[in-house]
Amino acid sequence: MEQTNLKLKSQANNYPSLKLSDRHLCDLELIMNGGFKPLDGFMTKNDYDSVVSDMRLKDGSLWSMPITLDIDDKFASKIFNTPKITLRDKEGFALGILKIEDIWQPDLELEAQSVFGTSDLKHPGVNYLLETSKKNYIGGKIEKIILPHHHDYQDLRHTPYELKSIFKHYKWDKIIAFQTRNPLHKAHFELTTRAMKELNANLLIHPVVGMTKPGDVNHFTRARCYKNVMQEYPERSAFLSLLPLAMRMGGPKETLLHAIIRKNYGCTHLIVGRDHAGPGLNSKNEPFYGPYEAQNILEKYQDELEIEMVPFKFMVFIPKSAKFKAIDDVDQNEDYKTLSGTELRQLLDEGKGIPEWFTFKSVAHELERSNPPLAKRGLTIFFTGLSGSGKSTLANGLLARLLEEGSRHVSLLDGDIVRTNLSSELGFSKEHRSINIKRIGYVASEITKNGGIAICAPIAPYEQDRKFNRDLISKEGGYVEIFVNTPLEKCEERDSKGLYAMAREGKIKEFTGISDPYEEPIDAEIVINSSGKNPNLLVKEIYEKIVKMGFIEEDE
Ligand code: PPS
Repeated sequence: MEQTNLKLKSQANNYPSLKLSDRHLCDLELIMNGGFKPLDGFMTKNDYDSVVSDMRLKDGSLWSMPITLDIDDKFASKIFNTPKITLRDKEGFALGILKIEDIWQPDLELEAQSVFGTSDLKHPGVNYLLETSKKNYIGGKIEKIILPHHHDYQDLRHTPYELKSIFKHYKWDKIIAFQTRNPLHKAHFELTTRAMKELNANLLIHPVVGMTKPGDVNHFTRARCYKNVMQEYPERSAFLSLLPLAMRMGGPKETLLHAIIRKNYGCTHLIVGRDHAGPGLNSKNEPFYGPYEAQNILEKYQDELEIEMVPFKFMVFIPKSAKFKAIDDVDQNEDYKTLSGTELRQLLDEGKGIPEWFTFKSVAHELERSNPPLAKRGLTIFFTGLSGSGKSTLANGLLARLLEEGSRHVSLLDGDIVRTNLSSELGFSKEHRSINIKRIGYVASEITKNGGIAICAPIAPYEQDRKFNRDLISKEGGYVEIFVNTPLEKCEERDSKGLYAMAREGKIKEFTGISDPYEEPIDAEIVINSSGKNPNLLVKEIYEKIVKMGFIEEDE
């Protein structure tokens, strides 16, 4: 059990507090446990500038990506003239005290270009930087009170010191680290076993469980998969430890960071495959980095970092010999098989089962258990449209149809119902509407996570809020946005509640469509124009589309 620094803890209340985000918490843990050595705090302006321009800290040591603490303007002005701040986790526990050395406004565009080589928002690292990160950075040394507490998989989490002690105890002196954010399959097992044999070394399976790429398999499922795969390695040849890193999907530069971390955790080698820490495709559908760029950069700096790269090519399955081979070694005309992440997801969505050549049965079982076919998974159906567009009528019709179908529990979160039960204190300013929509999103995500269907029907006039919900809920199950695109004139002509008339007279302020904006959805799965059409037929149309998307089983 880790000891709390009680003396420091007693000082925590003397300073302004900052509640840390998930990303900050991961970074803080690695700063405080030595995983980010030589960093001993969030970067100061000098270190940051030097890393952004030259990939080095001010003292000259190689460091490839900024590790920064971003804060909003309000907090920045609050701590003006304060020597220290207390860093707290989400529940308010004091974890460390930061001695403020600098507060500055970084050029985030420049950071994106220089660190990620792009300002394309499809890059998750860039997207975080330009869309989520606050606009001020605060830098300085950290005094540790206690490491962040993890309730899960405590036996699989280690500090660098603990891991090095374990390696020493096992008398391992050559340790190959395998970095991953995905479940392990047979190809990974094959390549790690080969690396162990070729180098006569031991293996550390070191998966990232902090923050990975949006859409990745959650770390609970992955950890169960890893534990199963560990049974396949010869006894005492491999070790599993979970790494609380927040990935930036920075490709080559992130590969250097991975190498620095693994060196700190006592490893001597790092496996780097194709497109290591790759962010996927850019907005032109092209890869952000070359397939072996990560290997090239680590090759260049491995001596300086004192960790050796173990390069690996993409492995494919050869049915004839029932063995895996590096793609470059496949003979001409030789038949081979691969399965991409997208294909794997599709198999799971359709409940078709994962082929045995691809993964171990125990892993397939875990993946199938946490990803039931679409027709058995939780789902949110999110209607959006102007007041009077017909959202509630369609939502109620669909509710009845889904209850008749009966495969899942269904809850309706209609605009007015939510305003009465969850948001009665809120008005219609942009800020209040956002809070309202995010509350709906939160409840819908819980329903979806637990396998039910949530039908939501607020106006939800802002794209940013709708996207927030889409991202939140898609992690838990299906998400279908339905834009009820009834023209304003038609809604106003109906004016069933008499609100448009009052809005025109100025008796209701900030009325959507009249004196407040409605941003039309750009990526709704279904678009409906309800004017002049029989609502029953529209409900039927929506229901059939949802069946076609696979979320409901077709009637026999
Ligand atoms: S939002 O923007 O999504 O938070 O709005 P929502 O929660 O769906 O609430 C919309 C219902 O509130 C009534 N109402 C107003 N709507 C828009 N603008 C203003 N200023 C306003 N004031 C009251 C209106 O009846 C909406 O109900 P629906 O069912 O959409 O007609």
